[in-house]
Amino acid sequence: MSAVNVAMSQDWIDVGATEEVPQRGARCVKKGDLTIAIFRTQDDQFFALEDKCPHKHGPLSQGIVHDGCVTCPLHNWVISLSSGQAQGADEGETRTFTVEVRDGRLLLDLEELR
Ligand code: FES
Repeated sequence: MSAVNVAMSQDWIDVGATEEVPQRGARCVKKGDLTIAIFRTQDDQFFALEDKCPHKHGPLSQGIVHDGCVTCPLHNWVISLSSGQAQGADEGETRTFTVEVRDGRLLLDLEELR
């Protein structure tokens, strides 16, 4: 995992190429104090969540991606990649962001990062 430089363009921020995010893995992008983990599923869907578990702020980017979720590396909470909601009996929510793929590039909505 490594941070990428952020290049701005209109209302979207280009945060890198899709190929830079490993399948079933994540890559982090920093914007001010915010660290956003961009996840890639086995079937090449991309999701962006704050890199902070709702339990005790574990780094979700270092978790295991499976079944549309990520399992936190600290205490194994399972977080939905689409909603950011903790699954099962656990309660909590991680902030999610819109991520778009255009021409092999990953774009985040600038408005959501303000
Ligand atoms: S910090 Fe993620 S499960 Fe505890």
